[in-house]
Amino acid sequence: MMEIDFAQFDDIDAIVRIEGECFMNEAWTREMIESDFFKRSIYIVTRNELGVPIAYLSMLDLEIEGEILRVAVKKQYRRKGVAKRMIRFLIEHLKANGYQQLYLEVKSTNEEAIKLYEHLGFMKFNERKHYYGSGEDALNYILLLD
Ligand SMILES: CC(C)(COP(=O)(O)OP(=O)(O)OC[C@H]1O[C@@H](n2cnc3c(N)ncnc32)[C@H](O)[C@@H]1OP(=O)(O)O)[C@@H](O)C(=O)NCCC(=O)NCCS
Repeated sequence: MMEIDFAQFDDIDAIVRIEGECFMNEAWTREMIESDFFKRSIYIVTRNELGVPIAYLSMLDLEIEGEILRVAVKKQYRRKGVAKRMIRFLIEHLKANGYQQLYLEVKSTNEEAIKLYEHLGFMKFNERKHYYGSGEDALNYILLLD
C-alpha cells in the first residue's frame, strides 16, 4: 500500500536520491532542497510499503496561488497513477485552504509530464520559445481551483 503525505525533514535523503534518478545533471542539490524546504514551499511524498519515499512533488507557496516546481517518480513506480494521486492530494489541500490558482512550467519535449498535467485539467496559457539553455520551449499551465 502506498501512502501520500506532507514530507518530513527526515525525508530529504530519499528526495535527493529521487532527484538524482529523475533529473540527472539537472538535479537539485541537497543544499538547494534543504534551504527550499524551510521557505515558501510545500513538499509532498508518496511512500512505499516500507515507508520510504519513492516519489515527491514540491510547490512554491504564494499564499493564494502556488507553482509546482518538481514532480518526480522513481522509474520502477511510473505509470501506476502515483504522480496523478500526489497532484490530486495537493489540489485538495489547496482548495481546502482557499487557494485560487495552481501554475506550472514544463519543457515542450516532456511528453509524459504534459500528458499528466492535461489529464488533470491544467490549461496551457503561454509558450516561451527557446526558454531553456538547451533551446527547448517552455509551456506554462494553469489550473483554476475555485
Ligand atoms: C512525469 C512523471 C512525474 C509521471 O509520473 P507517473 O506516476 O508515471 O504518472 P501517472 O502514472 O500518475 O500518470 C498519469 C497520467 O499521465 C499520463 N502519462 C504519464 N506518463 C506517461 C507516459 N510515459 N506516456 C503517456 N502518458 C503518460 C497518462 O495520461 C497517465 O494516465 P493513464 O496511466 O491513466 O493513461 C514521471 O514520468 C517522472 O518522474 N518523470 C521524470 C521527472 C519529470 O519530468 N517531471 C516533470 C517535470 S518537473
